[in-house]
Amino acid sequence: MFYELAQKVMFQMDPELAHNLAMKGLRATGNNPLNCFYSQNIAPAPVTFMGVTFPNPVGLAAGMDKDGECIDAFYAMGFGHVEVGTVTPRPQPGNDKPRLFRIKPAKAIINRMGFNNKGVDNLVANLIAKKSNAVVGVNIGKNKDTPVEQGKEDYLICMDKVYPYADYIAVNISSPNTPGLRTMQYGELLEDLLSSLKFRQKELAAKYNKYVPVALKIAPDLTEEEIEKIADALIQNEFDGVIATNTTLSRDGVSGLANSNETGGMSGKPLQDLSTKVIKQLATCLKGKVPILGGGGINSAEDALAKLDAGAEMVQIYSGFIYQGPKLIKEIVDAYRSK
Ligand SMILES: Cc1cc2nc3c(=O)[nH]c(=O)nc-3n(C[C@H](O)[C@H](O)[C@H](O)COP(=O)(O)O)c2cc1C
Repeated sequence: MFYELAQKVMFQMDPELAHNLAMKGLRATGNNPLNCFYSQNIAPAPVTFMGVTFPNPVGLAAGMDKDGECIDAFYAMGFGHVEVGTVTPRPQPGNDKPRLFRIKPAKAIINRMGFNNKGVDNLVANLIAKKSNAVVGVNIGKNKDTPVEQGKEDYLICMDKVYPYADYIAVNISSPNTPGLRTMQYGELLEDLLSSLKFRQKELAAKYNKYVPVALKIAPDLTEEEIEKIADALIQNEFDGVIATNTTLSRDGVSGLANSNETGGMSGKPLQDLSTKVIKQLATCLKGKVPILGGGGINSAEDALAKLDAGAEMVQIYSGFIYQGPKLIKEIVDAYRSK
């Protein structure tokens, strides 16, 4: 009820302004009694994924809480995990505004935010300050002005800094809004990135006496052959998990609608089948050797179950949460429990 009202107001506003106001509100109320406006009791539905125990299989996907400012609020809503980031070594403003667009009739979003964030040191301070027991994944990326060939160094810097405070680390090489980033999904750049991160993870695990799993987040815009190669690289490098998928460059399902011609990555309902297909192909290639965290277009419990049927073991939501509100978390967990 509260969300329906809030959404009515926010949908009258510019999307980024609405986002910023909502985040301010969540930050101010996340760990005090005012969180009663959105907190939910979700029945436990524990899942062990990548060796970590999550209270339920529904997480918040990266990009909503880039700086980890509202973790406690999202935990109060009942999310089984909160993936913060994408964070980069240095703060950066992201692309010029406007850069966030709703396509309401299709329950879709287009964004070209470009990793606007306050930098990894600020994020670490917020992780230290969080009060709840939220399971937190940290999604890491590279700064826009770091050449792709040196991108690996940015991931390593972020990994070093967040490692002691993260429950898992997500490596984002699939945002379409950082020029050249997606080229890290192929060939030698991919191999070099994955092997370097694995090597560093082993060093950090020994240093902190704590094993933090690392997952790769991939795009939905990959051919079958590319998916096969990524799957092989994940197995070879003993990656702990894979997150499928990020936003798409396709505009299937939205042509002719307002904002559909905006540049950027599209998320939401029109992405559901595409990302499910990628998950299915990945699952075939991975043969259970690397677990899959599925996302992309989930707008209902049925959509989430389709991701699990395709081979994912947990799910994440972003756009569906904007369009449906926190009740979507509960609906999915309830459906999962009675599966
Ligand atoms: C406004 C916006 C910003 C996003 N920022 C990030 C990001 O910083 N890092 C990332 O890995 N994914 C980012 N994403 C992608 C989401 O995490 C998710 O993978 C994608 O939206 C598909 O899920 P959905 O259809 O449930 O939204 C962003 C998505 C949106 C809509």
